[in-house]
Amino acid sequence: MDEVELREMLPEDIPAVLAIERLSFSAPWSEAAFFSEINKPYAFTRVAVSEDTIAGYICVNLVLDEAHIMNLAVHPGSRRRGIATMLLKEALNELKKTGAAFFYLEVRLSNLAARQFYEGFGFRVAGLRKNYYQSPDEDAVLMTLGI
Ligand SMILES: CC(C)(COP(=O)(O)OP(=O)(O)OC[C@H]1O[C@@H](n2cnc3c(N)ncnc32)[C@H](O)[C@@H]1OP(=O)(O)O)[C@@H](O)C(=O)NCCC(=O)NCCS
Repeated sequence: MDEVELREMLPEDIPAVLAIERLSFSAPWSEAAFFSEINKPYAFTRVAVSEDTIAGYICVNLVLDEAHIMNLAVHPGSRRRGIATMLLKEALNELKKTGAAFFYLEVRLSNLAARQFYEGFGFRVAGLRKNYYQSPDEDAVLMTLGI
């Protein structure tokens, strides 16, 4: 794999992040949603950069000892190269240092790729959130991990 570096998400990254977001989700986040993440004092963001191009990103919110994975995506052309693994490992390691003891996330019931990815890290299904998603309407699986 080409060298991949992780760094905090900056405002100038948002156009490239949005392009990946729109390729990855049926109901993508807006530009404003990413600006809001960057500006939250309790948000953790990273982008994965390969050959000066953004290949993926993660956004996590830490409230007390609970870390909520808000968003994670990798460009379709860069998947299955370990980039999401790098991003999630960094979030787990860095947020543990700042007090996180519990990680959780919602994922579409039908998103088997992401569910398998998280299961590989030890996340387990803790319940369903009915009709959590729109476009299309779908339940969310709630996945949790104690660290
Ligand atoms: C889920 C996602 C972030 C994974 O990114 P990635 O960089 O391809 O993941 P990795 O290469 O680090 O994969 C690590 C492991 O996760 C599992 N995995 C990843 N993608 C998978 C897939 N499509 N099907 C089955 N397992 C998969 C595998 O065990 C994989 O290990 P392997 O490649 O050695 O078999 C990516 O598919 C994506 O951006 N999907 C669209 C957005 C999304 O669903 N985000 C999560 C919302 S909660």
